[in-house]
Amino acid sequence: MVRVGIIGGSGIYRLLESPERRVLSTPFGDATVFLGEFGGEEIAFIPRHGEKHEIPPFKVNYRANLYALNLLGVERVMATNAVGAIDPELAPGTFVIPDDFIDLTKCREGTFYDGKTILKVRGREVGGVIHVSMTPYTYCPEIRGALKEAARELGLEVVDKGVYVCAEGNRFETPAEIRAMRILGGDIVGMTGCPEAALARELAMCYASISVVTNYAAGVGGRAKLTHEEVLEMFSRRINDLSEILRRAVGNIPVERSCPCGEALDEFLSR
Ligand code: HPA
Repeated sequence: MVRVGIIGGSGIYRLLESPERRVLSTPFGDATVFLGEFGGEEIAFIPRHGEKHEIPPFKVNYRANLYALNLLGVERVMATNAVGAIDPELAPGTFVIPDDFIDLTKCREGTFYDGKTILKVRGREVGGVIHVSMTPYTYCPEIRGALKEAARELGLEVVDKGVYVCAEGNRFETPAEIRAMRILGGDIVGMTGCPEAALARELAMCYASISVVTNYAAGVGGRAKLTHEEVLEMFSRRINDLSEILRRAVGNIPVERSCPCGEALDEFLSR
């Protein structure tokens, strides 16, 4: 059984030394997972955009990825994302561990529970019409704590709160869209945090993410033009620190879960 899974975003395509590559088939399609040692234990790693960054955000098979981790027995998931800063105080290079999200995606498969498919979650069958709750915590407090503690141990600064807005993409936002997101309460904007976080909850998995601010979002900070090049360049500057945070965080995740994430399906299992 593998306990911890890591989903790496833009810029993280390899994390493990000499991983075992496995293609797992799920009711939602195939997922490629890499197994290997990281942070003192065997973990499962998924490069979200594929091994060569060939999968755009709206084409990522979020359901297959999460379900494959579930098949391996993973209960604890950490993810990374590149984001733009809606809040001008969040300078490029900053790490943010968001505590909530707003999902503005438009055409993604956002649930496992289509009314028909029966899933197996840690040995129990679950299906039908299921509405998981995103309260009291949108993201797992234990995983967020493990990431925060890892950064502290390494002497790296992180911003321990923030609202992640997920845009559909594939283009970057317009300045007016970013102003609207600001009014809605968003601090950072990316294209991959949703529906991933909610799908993890639908499998009663713990999930938290750490975002790297790679740029000011469109129209923020008076910048004329935002390019993908700029996003990748800033990400590559932070990748070593980010990998070290993840490595340490693995060891900081308690073996026993004391967060409520594991109970996400309990009310539906007793029906
Ligand atoms: N917008 C959306 N996604 C992003 C951005 C952005 O500005 N930067 C990195 N990912």
